[in-house]
Amino acid sequence: MEIFAHRGVSAQYPENTMAAFTAASKLQITGIELDVHLTADRELVVIHDETIDRTSNGSGYVKDYTLQELRAFDFGSWFSAAFEDESIPTLGDVLELFAGTNHRINIELKTDVFPYDGIEALVIREIAAYQMTERVIISSFNHESIQIISQRAPYIEKAALFAEILVDFTGYTSQIPANAIHVNLPTAFRRSVQEALNEGTTVRVYTVNDVEDAKQLQQLGVKGIFTDDPEKIVAALVG
Ligand code: G3P
Ligand code: CA
Repeated sequence: MEIFAHRGVSAQYPENTMAAFTAASKLQITGIELDVHLTADRELVVIHDETIDRTSNGSGYVKDYTLQELRAFDFGSWFSAAFEDESIPTLGDVLELFAGTNHRINIELKTDVFPYDGIEALVIREIAAYQMTERVIISSFNHESIQIISQRAPYIEKAALFAEILVDFTGYTSQIPANAIHVNLPTAFRRSVQEALNEGTTVRVYTVNDVEDAKQLQQLGVKGIFTDDPEKIVAALVG
């Protein structure tokens, strides 16, 4: 089963920082997951929320800051004082880090609150610039973003993200089209996901931090999981 470090190794490092991704780059896992937003000067930055309030010493929307302004904030101290030097990474920073490894990169486009007009084309260009096109999976809760990627770059692997638990997934990946569905943990054990698996749909599950859940999902036949603590999960699955 594929193992992705969710927002990097976010159990031990501040999420979506170079520290969390560097730790993941040293592990023998499938890859990482990260979240992308767009700044006021149209730079692709890696952060989960629409605002910087929770994960930095600043406040306000990502979309209202330039990259240079965002770089001035501390994105590590909220997690631990040891990480006070962490700044916000760009997507390019992370792609460069993984250029010398064979990890996969799941880029989640955070377009479900603000659509960030044109973000899809910018991401396609960035992954091509780093020659990572064949190694990425682009996902989003906003399935219009997935459709745009599909139209502009059909060769890129894509996944439709779901937060709801009561969805009929039958035939959904061919409609979008996408290569996979990514569902949350409560949804993963529902009949609708079993039906999707039975019809051959590729399913990955977030966020799986309990080893018993990971073992059950492996039994169910899911393709991969996203976890904050990849070392713990790998040790349990191998052992
Ligand atoms: O991509 C899987 C997962 O990261 C989606 O939820 O809220 O952690 O971005 P969230
Ligand atoms: Ca995410």
